[in-house]
Amino acid sequence: MRIAGKEYRTIWYEDDVVKIIDQTKLPHNFIIKDLETVDHAVNAIKSMEVRGAPLIGATAAFGIALAIKENNDLKFIKKSSEKLVNARPTAINLQWAVHRMNNKLSFIKSENLFDVAINEAKEICNEDINFCENIGLEGFKIIEKIYNQKKKTVNILTHCNAGWLATINWGTATSPIYHAHKKGIPVHVWVDETRPRNQGANLTSFELNEEGIPNTIITDNTGGILMQRGEVDMCIVGTDRTLSTGDVCNKIGTYLKALAAYDNNVPFYVALPSSTIDWETKDYNEIPIEERDAEELSYIEGKDDKNNIKKVLIYPERSKSMNLAFDITPAKYVTGLITEKGICKASTNGLKQMFSKL
Ligand code: MRU
Repeated sequence: MRIAGKEYRTIWYEDDVVKIIDQTKLPHNFIIKDLETVDHAVNAIKSMEVRGAPLIGATAAFGIALAIKENNDLKFIKKSSEKLVNARPTAINLQWAVHRMNNKLSFIKSENLFDVAINEAKEICNEDINFCENIGLEGFKIIEKIYNQKKKTVNILTHCNAGWLATINWGTATSPIYHAHKKGIPVHVWVDETRPRNQGANLTSFELNEEGIPNTIITDNTGGILMQRGEVDMCIVGTDRTLSTGDVCNKIGTYLKALAAYDNNVPFYVALPSSTIDWETKDYNEIPIEERDAEELSYIEGKDDKNNIKKVLIYPERSKSMNLAFDITPAKYVTGLITEKGICKASTNGLKQMFSKL
């Protein structure tokens, strides 16, 4: 998608290095950063220079290629794989990508390892773009249906950033929105700010602006009253890990939005590529929920009136704070899963019919 009119992907390989858009600097600064070693890739994931489940998966895949470039000894590759998988615990895409890379690399001669790895990482990116595009075409049908009934702007609420910045291109939750916009359906997006890191305000609103899509940032507590007032036609969110039972793990606050949607009969959809499905875990209590540094709550960063970026403390100095990054939305609150293969029920049967894998 576009930034200042120019088409970008979120990650690409050029001039022998992996390039990323540093998302910690958006929306005020647009900075492309080079990743040259596996530790650069691990740090980019940990510090959230890259974030969003599909994108951290792709970064891990490139990370394996960078590790091989440094040292193609099997022990080093194994250790690097562990570091990448452990960089963030919740999104299943990290494990998925590292596992896929290692499978691809087994039985490859050491002199060919790097070429095979870099091509597989590129393939993961291309596949994600295709999956996200299909998610968009599927999700578009829901938006179109609402528009045909309403004949007025379709209001869609989203949480966090499940936009193109969280994937390689298109996004998951935003892909149906981009497709609707391109096909001339009037859409407006309620963007949950998404404290504490403000991925909604800093990233989702930013990318929608760049594509000319009307959007309004709201605090994380505003969605409920908008739903009561009939000002939300549907919710679409992304996910970091969806179980084969249809239970959805996503950015903290998603669950409360799903409860409000359920109480107000607002359809609540989750958009995801199959790389985000955890086929093994059956009980959502077993999903590791990332707890990040409490300073992400107590400090806030922004631009002052002289255009300098500043970080300031907003909490009482002696207060304790706690920063859980994800929560679980049980399947019963999810209207449907929008996948690259079509829309299915958030249930074992729904997913079984869509992906003959269970
Ligand atoms: O902590 P983040 O910013 O990596 O969290 C991202 C999300 O929660 C997204 O909704 C999810 O990864 C889906 S991305 C298509």
